[in-house]
Amino acid sequence: MSGIGLFFGSDTGNTARAAELIQKEFDQVQPGLVTVTDIARCNLRELEAYDKLILGVPTWNIGELQSDWDTLFPQMDTLNLSGKQVALFGLGDEGGYPDTYQDAIGIVGAKARERGAHLVGYWPTTGYDFLESRGVEDGKFMGLALDNDNAPELTPERIKAWVQQLVREFGLET
Ligand SMILES: Cc1cc2nc3c(=O)[nH]c(=O)nc-3n(C[C@H](O)[C@H](O)[C@H](O)COP(=O)(O)O)c2cc1C
Repeated sequence: MSGIGLFFGSDTGNTARAAELIQKEFDQVQPGLVTVTDIARCNLRELEAYDKLILGVPTWNIGELQSDWDTLFPQMDTLNLSGKQVALFGLGDEGGYPDTYQDAIGIVGAKARERGAHLVGYWPTTGYDFLESRGVEDGKFMGLALDNDNAPELTPERIKAWVQQLVREFGLET
């Protein structure tokens, strides 16, 4: 499929709202480019329909996956993501959970790569205040890190810049 599949899980709505903002940013590049799906209402097999994927993964319960990701995570072992580009974005709380900040993007990112995906959308850690994260690799977040608990005002501009980065990395420039 030529579009981008965005799949997210969200317990308290922050990741759902970020998914909507990301979709709106891509709409300005090409209307209808991104299809958004709440994984609470899907079979993860649907991921295989897209060559370009965006996964929205908040961290919960001190370094754990959000409830729907947690339920469906074992299904990821059956997915074939070979040749697919996968970008991650995470919601977290750097003030409340500085030792496990954004761990979930690391957990899902590592699994996606194990299933054959090529990860894109890495994001600098500058401007964030945390101690440890499984979501950091080679000094960068493995995707866009958003924090609506401590810095909600930064979310729209971070999304705008990240979508511009993804347009390049997904090869969507006209
Ligand atoms: C009990 C609890 C545990 C949490 N654990 C973490 C954590 O370990 N790391 C982190 O970065 N954020 C953690 N958070 C913050 C959530 O990820 C954050 O509030 C996020 O915006 C929730 O996204 P959602 O509304 O899409 O579910 C935790 C929040 C709660 C209430």
